[in-house]
This record gives sequence, structure tokens and C-alpha cells, in this order.
Amino acid sequence: MSSPPRLTALLPPGPRLTPAEAMAGLDLKREDPPGRPWVVLNMVATADGRAAIDGSTVGMGGAADRELFHELRTQVDAVMVGARTAAVERYGSLVRGEPDRARRRSVGLDPEPLACLVSGRLHVPPDLPMLARAEARIVVATAAPGDLPASAATVSYLRAPTWGGDRVDLPTAVTGLWREHRVRSVLCEGGPELNRGLLEAGLVDELFLTLVPVVTADPGAPAIVSGGHLQTPARMDLVRVLEDDGHLFLRYRMRRS
Ligand SMILES: NC(=O)c1ccc[n+]([C@@H]2O[C@H](COP(=O)([O-])OP(=O)(O)OC[C@H]3O[C@@H](n4cnc5c(N)ncnc54)[C@H](OP(=O)(O)O)[C@@H]3O)[C@@H](O)[C@H]2O)c1
Repeated sequence: MSSPPRLTALLPPGPRLTPAEAMAGLDLKREDPPGRPWVVLNMVATADGRAAIDGSTVGMGGAADRELFHELRTQVDAVMVGARTAAVERYGSLVRGEPDRARRRSVGLDPEPLACLVSGRLHVPPDLPMLARAEARIVVATAAPGDLPASAATVSYLRAPTWGGDRVDLPTAVTGLWREHRVRSVLCEGGPELNRGLLEAGLVDELFLTLVPVVTADPGAPAIVSGGHLQTPARMDLVRVLEDDGHLFLRYRMRRS
């Protein structure tokens, strides 16, 4: 087995760290105010701010990014993703295997995170790999009245329509995860449209952003947040910077007004 990448801690400066060391004990849970989970966004972008290359994130981030991404997944109750991202990235298992399941159990978490798919119109491909896994527990946050076709996964629904529309009321969905599924921490893996909705609603607590040393200037690729400008810019404090092979791993904490 190849040895894990070692990241240089630039801010605050410190010793080189493996991804597991870098992500140990993040304490991603909400104490105050109670009533909704702690919400963390994790995204990767090119140096010119694009969130996809040739329509997906495959191959964008590199080895260290992949490790950090899985480390985050071992520390949260739920992973949230928008319908298009789930479809494009072919979402399946949210853990890599038994070692990650065991690590989750060792910190009191379920062996696999709850998956939360956000799909206003229930546009979820029936052949999504996640749906074929008997171990998968999926909550679909939707504005639509119907159900997905029966599948091997355990699927439940959080109906959170906006008034007269096909959008999901994200505050209702996120607090529903807390109330109905005892979710205390959510890792949102995008995409850009879902990110925008969460930011607009003030539901994001932290952003983990990987900046890769690539420029594509692809006008068709979205930014990490897209779909119209936010009414109020979401201001953040930079709390940590790690580096590996020219990739920057940034952790921001949202400022509360
Ligand atoms: N760089 C990264 O880290 C990263 C991460 C994720 C995705 N991506 C890329 O981003 C692209 C996809 O972008 P996207 O913005 O279309 O992704 P997205 O946010 O995952 O998907 C958009 C879809 O999600 C549902 N949705 C999101 N917010 C909603 C809301 N408030 N209410 C109801 N439904 C909501 C809708 O589904 P319905 O149509 O079913 O209503 C909408 O059509 C892909 O190329 C993907 O590879 C990049």
C-alpha cells in the first residue's frame, strides 16, 4: 500500500500531517443554537474558480483531496447532495469499506452516514448506484408528492415544498434532519445550486475548499456556488491552510452577523 500524502500546514504553521491527522477531531457538531445540525460544505475548484472539468469533478482533486474528503465523511451523521451532482457523480457507497465503518463506530456514529438527496422534482435516476445498496439509508428532501420506484435501499422522504413551487425549503429540510433523523452534523458535497440555497438561507457553518493548480477558463463550468447572487455576501474567516503538491486545502468558518 502506498503511504498517505503528507500535507504542509501553512496556517497556522505546523508539522507535516497525514490527511487523517489533519482531519482528526474536527468536532463538527452544533451546540448553539440547537435545533439544526452543523453544516459543512466541501468543494473543489480550479484556480480560476470552476467547480467541474468536462462536466464532473472526476480527477480534479488528486490523492490528498480524496483522502481529506473521505476523512470528512467519517465524522458526520449525514451527507447531503443535490440531485444533479448525485446523478453526474454516480453516488454509491458513502464509505470506502470496513475500516472507515469501524472508525465511525469508534466515535459513536452509525457505520454509514445517512444520505440526504435534495431533489425538488424527484429527478433522481432510478439506476443511481446508491439506491441499489441494501445498507444505504436515504432521506429524499423534495417538494414533489410521489415516491421513487422501490429499491434495495431504505428510502424515506422529507416533504418540504416552498409555497406553490418545486423548490425545497432548505431550512425545513435541514431542521427535519435534526428532528426526524437525529442528525447533528451534515456534510454537503454540493453541487453549486444546492450550495447557493444553503448559503442564502444562512444554513452553512463552514466551508472546506480545495484549490487545484489548474486553469480551464471553461465558460460552461459552474462556480462552486451558482444560480444568482446572494442577497447578502456570505463572509467567512480563514481558519486553516494546508498544502500538498501545489493544491491548497482551505477551511473557512462562516461569520455570524
Ligand atoms: N467542484 C465540486 O466540489 C463539485 C461538487 C458537486 C458538484 N459539482 C459539479 O456541479 C455540477 C452540478 O451542478 P448543479 O448546481 O446542477 O448541482 P446540484 O445542486 O447538485 O443539483 C441541482 C439539482 O438539485 C436539486 N436542488 C438543489 N437545490 C434545490 C432546492 N433548494 N430545492 C429543490 N431542489 C434543489 C434540483 O433537483 P430537481 O431537478 O430534481 O428538482 C436541481 O435541479 C456537476 O458538473 C458536478 O460535477 C462540483
